[in-house]
Amino acid sequence: MKLVQSPLEVAVLAEEARQRLKRVALVPTMGALHAGHGELIARAVRDCDFVVVSIFVNPLQFGPGEDLAAYPRDLEADLEFLATRAVDLVFAPGVEQMYPQPFLTTVHVSRLTERFEGAARPGHFDGVTTVVTKLLAILGPCRAYFGEKDFQQLVVVKKLVADLNLPVEVVACPTVREEDGLALSSRNRYLSPAEREAATVLYRSLLQGSAEIAAGERDPEVVAGAMEQVIAAEPLARLDYAAVVDPVTLEVPPFIRGEVRLLVAAKVGPARLIDNLAVEVPD
Ligand code: PAJ
Repeated sequence: MKLVQSPLEVAVLAEEARQRLKRVALVPTMGALHAGHGELIARAVRDCDFVVVSIFVNPLQFGPGEDLAAYPRDLEADLEFLATRAVDLVFAPGVEQMYPQPFLTTVHVSRLTERFEGAARPGHFDGVTTVVTKLLAILGPCRAYFGEKDFQQLVVVKKLVADLNLPVEVVACPTVREEDGLALSSRNRYLSPAEREAATVLYRSLLQGSAEIAAGERDPEVVAGAMEQVIAAEPLARLDYAAVVDPVTLEVPPFIRGEVRLLVAAKVGPARLIDNLAVEVPD
């Protein structure tokens, strides 16, 4: 497993791999690797022959009051995590290498980024789409692996790739959860034991929403209301949003039919947590 900091060197190595007819995979991460990232990597290793994991805590996607400084960084631990996972290359650039000054370009996806995480975190998605575009430009033609855990991000990245004709196949990977349902997240380590217990409220609200739909409810606002009530009943959690949306447009449909996605975001102690669940309504 090679560790590379230079974008140009990664570009050359990926191109060489393609010339040797290797299928190239990219798994973009911000480090603090856990089993959720591990699942993306396992899929990439299964599908492809030259697997690149990027580790870069992207300052552009953090707002002024957010946890950029506190975000866990431990390259040693991450390299240890990756060492047994058949990864070919770790791309861990410095901020100066990704954003040589002056850096004057922003990639913006409209509409899909306006609500939910985009509303709660102004500028966040511009940071994500700009860094993802750069990573994909550096790698060249590849498969890129993203988690459903960050569902809005996944939808935005798919649209970015389609709109810009990037030579990339986006592969979506299911959310990895703890036994009690909490979605794995690097931010879970901000939680005290009591908050960690309370954090299962996000998954419980998704299950409640799903149960309402299974029981015949078809009004997205009513289902969202039931999800909100579950969050409201947990004293350590503060609701940000709960919604039922179309999985492609992220719009709230007039009534629930076909496939929908339940989205929830809440603050639990110091951590802002998100989760989502697919629900399919038979015709
Ligand atoms: P990060 O939060 O490190 O996540 C990297 C990838 O791992 C994302 O695609 C995310 O959806 C996926 N992931 C995280 N937790 C997961 C879980 N429990 N189950 C399945 N997949 C999970 O998302 C980012 O970094 C950044 O925004 C990035 C795309 C790297 C751009 O900076």
